[in-house]
Amino acid sequence: MKEQLIALEQEALAAIAEACDLQSLEDLRVRFLGKKGAVTAILKQMGGLSPEERPKIGQFANALSEKLTAALGVRRTALEAEALDKQLAEEKLDITIPGKREAVGKQHVMKKTLDEALDIFIGMGFSVAEGPEVELSANVFDKLGTPEGHPSRDWGDTFYFDRESQYVLRTHTSAVQVRVMENQKPPIRVVSPGRVYRKDEVDATHSPMFHQIEGLVVDKGITMADLKGTLNALVGQLYGQETKTRFRPHHFPFTEPSCEVDCRCFKCRGKGCPMCKGEGWIELLGSGMVHPNVLRVCGIDPDVYSGFAFGIGLDRMTMMRYNISDLRLIFENDLRFLRQF
Ligand code: PHE
Repeated sequence: MKEQLIALEQEALAAIAEACDLQSLEDLRVRFLGKKGAVTAILKQMGGLSPEERPKIGQFANALSEKLTAALGVRRTALEAEALDKQLAEEKLDITIPGKREAVGKQHVMKKTLDEALDIFIGMGFSVAEGPEVELSANVFDKLGTPEGHPSRDWGDTFYFDRESQYVLRTHTSAVQVRVMENQKPPIRVVSPGRVYRKDEVDATHSPMFHQIEGLVVDKGITMADLKGTLNALVGQLYGQETKTRFRPHHFPFTEPSCEVDCRCFKCRGKGCPMCKGEGWIELLGSGMVHPNVLRVCGIDPDVYSGFAFGIGLDRMTMMRYNISDLRLIFENDLRFLRQF
């Protein structure tokens, strides 16, 4: 019987070594070690053995089972590794095939101008403040020197949200001045870009929605000279250092004195051309020294502090910088137009 087992061992080990896939390996396991397998079949004949031989053969048979189990395990590991290698080889990526090109968008021309302007201001030490487009009328009007009854609050010019006229689509970013001064102690040096709304008819230079960048500086000893220096630096960086500016007296209810700032037409250098409508100057922004009443209403003592503010029309600036003749093009989102910038 021992000879039978030895022969079986050789046969089984040879078969296991040759098994070429996991299924045939499993078949071998059943064939040799299964309940109806070859080893079991031999053990069933142990009844005919002498009492001395029985334990020896029993031990031998157990050792054989273990050996075969181990051999099956080793072969299984090897076959699994082979299968994985094969799978990896078959699934190899062919990186020489060109990929699908994604359609990549680009920055809107308006955002580009805004980023350029913000870069300049941040370079001068300003930080960026945000404010809501749906604002309290108090912040848009009352606290900025335009009380009830002032023409700029007219229902025909302004988008109100309620009968009491408490909430409006802000008509200018100057409302952010109020928010900043009420929440921050001087020194203050902020710019605040955003959308503003007025009931304007749409044409080449008007839109009921447009963009402004508000600027506000409040500290001890701020004068008109600081305002001029800051705005000249802005114009110099935007349109070239040699570009001349002109400060024209004007009126705003929340600044005193107030002025509008023009720059020499960068196209014709002042001779007069379609860009500047023959005037040689282009209007850039409104500005002035923050009115003492505005400082006071916002909790800042005008006897200690002074400040200046300005509001730039970003749409106009974009049109000038990129030579765009019609404001509507900026908002129509025609890709043929937008891709040019
Ligand atoms: N808010 C003004 C406007 O919309 C511009 C401005 C801002 C003027 C700050 C003076 C100071 O026309």
